Amino acid sequence: MSEELIFHVKPHIAASASVNAKSLALMNNHASLDPDPFWLEQARRLDWMRFPTIAGSGGFGGPGDETVEISWFADGTLNASVNCLDRHLASRGDETALIWQGEIEAQTARLSFHDLHDKVCRLANVLKAHGVGRGDRVATYLPMVVESVVAMLACARIGAVHVVMFAGFSPSGVASRIRDSAARLLITADEGRRGGKRIPLKTMADAALDELGDAAPPHVLVVSVTGAAVPMKQGRDHDFATLVEAAAPDCAPEEMGAEDPLLILYTSGSTGAPKGVLHTTGGYLLWASLTHEMVFDHRPGDVFWCTADLGWVTGHSYVVYGPLANGGTTLVFEGTPSFPSPGRWWQVIDKHAVNGFYTAPTAIRALMRDDPAVVDAARLDSLRVLGSVGEPINAEAWLWFYEKVGHARCPVIDSWWQTETGGMMIVPVPGAVAQKPGSATLPLPGVRAVLVDEKGQVLDGAAEGHLCIDGSWPGQARTLWGDHGRFVQTYFTTYPGLYFSGDGARRDADGYFWITGRVDDVINVSGHRIGSAEVESAFATHAAVSESAVIGVPDDLKGQSLAAFVVVRGGAAAAPQDLRGELAAHVGRQLGRYAAPDLVVLVSDLPKTRSGKVMRRILRKIATGEHEQLGDVSTLADPSVIDSLLESMAGVRNAGPTG
Ligand code: WTA
Repeated sequence: MSEELIFHVKPHIAASASVNAKSLALMNNHASLDPDPFWLEQARRLDWMRFPTIAGSGGFGGPGDETVEISWFADGTLNASVNCLDRHLASRGDETALIWQGEIEAQTARLSFHDLHDKVCRLANVLKAHGVGRGDRVATYLPMVVESVVAMLACARIGAVHVVMFAGFSPSGVASRIRDSAARLLITADEGRRGGKRIPLKTMADAALDELGDAAPPHVLVVSVTGAAVPMKQGRDHDFATLVEAAAPDCAPEEMGAEDPLLILYTSGSTGAPKGVLHTTGGYLLWASLTHEMVFDHRPGDVFWCTADLGWVTGHSYVVYGPLANGGTTLVFEGTPSFPSPGRWWQVIDKHAVNGFYTAPTAIRALMRDDPAVVDAARLDSLRVLGSVGEPINAEAWLWFYEKVGHARCPVIDSWWQTETGGMMIVPVPGAVAQKPGSATLPLPGVRAVLVDEKGQVLDGAAEGHLCIDGSWPGQARTLWGDHGRFVQTYFTTYPGLYFSGDGARRDADGYFWITGRVDDVINVSGHRIGSAEVESAFATHAAVSESAVIGVPDDLKGQSLAAFVVVRGGAAAAPQDLRGELAAHVGRQLGRYAAPDLVVLVSDLPKTRSGKVMRRILRKIATGEHEQLGDVSTLADPSVIDSLLESMAGVRNAGPTG
């Protein structure tokens, strides 16, 4: 149905945008016919200390060859913080680089490029004084405050690698990320604010540091956000503001190779613990900056608001690196969409005259449920381009966003990309590509998106298959921290010679891509990637659990929600009443509340093949009530398990999702 709908390029956008249909066609041609000169030309958008002479090199290997080496602009040198700050000082040093809007309405801050430069340099000096140097990892565990952006750029300034951790992670999640990255220093806060509540970040960080024991970083900087009194460990913990104020406001930037690491960001995969996706300096920054400008039709001085948390890749590329590299004003919002009352986001847009607005389908779907008068009460006339990311957007949400928020005046860009891609990949360029609600439309120049069937055959024309990218682009992740073998295994061995995204997609007769969602065991809950294996490991740490299987089921609001089938010791029948709720809470404590399953079913056994593999397909059907269509169950080792699963499920329907 939605395929019938098409929204043509707005003439006023086509007339003024830096990229229109004609220039996009030229870019596409240039990128495919003459990639090296094309990318070297694109590289001019950055300030280099030494301009590169080489564009892309290396490759994805292929059948029988598992050498994956990706490198861009290898002989160029630059500094990411210089690109985000110093290079704007002469032309717009006094203009606003960052607006911070606190959860408390009266709390706002405006920092010019000079102000931000000053703070970044001071912190860079503090980091150096605490033994952090080139290549060292610095972990941050912070709420949405100015210091979080300052920390990222201060690392970039001295060549340290930032490892930003979402403030919703549990202490164990924090500990495992610090351990894996061997971070030398941690920056955290006394507390975070969320929806009127306080999050005891320092207490949680302390628990993580205790868990780490000797592997804990020797220094911890503590930002005072709420001013709460928190215990400070003598010699280890330092007050952030005191050190920063005492530090010198100048710090010469390190000259970094384009391929030197800039950041590690942990993300969930279908197996094992979260993996440290590594991005390097030149290619990543180029990709963040190019895509931000092209896709949001960004102009200098624009106010850009990406609602993503800094703990996810969207926050990295479109709160920090893209907008600041482009000399824009980035808005950092501490709060949530409807606190203290519905319509808060719309008030923020009006108050700060936001031009580009980038958010997630989950949030749009939640906001659609408010009284229509709430969004109608806002002016929203500063908006020019609206964007969506993180999960498939249904046509209904797309249309609401377009009409109610964009007043049928702003293009809605649905952008498909991943932590591993560094920035947007399949997305309509608003001055050039017509939009169809629910479709991420066409790949950006230089991105060869292909669909393959189960056997790895590349499909032509209208087709449905697994989404792969044929050949590298500058923003691509280079490796997984400390485990290149896993990098190769995860992304390049399923279809040798191609990067496999883990997503399925359909392509229509116009060549438009429609992302259908993950085809592996990654579950996308409210745009957060959660690996089923991760949740299953968390269950396994509970004494009552002998085994579990976690799946994603469709959810009207969250896109997908987590359902867990748990085999308990002593049998499901004998389990105490409240065990299901306790198990869900246990997972929340282990991983963070965002990963607590919505549905827990206690079962006596899991449906397994004779070789012991859990048949998740069957669990999905049972969880969604489609047990009439279980499909082929002949490979089950014990077919009687189905009846017992159905019985457990019926019990849950009576008792409620988590008991
Ligand atoms: C999903 C977030 C449909 C997809 C930037 C991908 C999407 C995963 C879209 C990456 C979209 C992201 N339409 N699905 N526009 N954007 N996804 O690493 O499954 O947190 O693989 O990066 O989100 O999530 P990640």
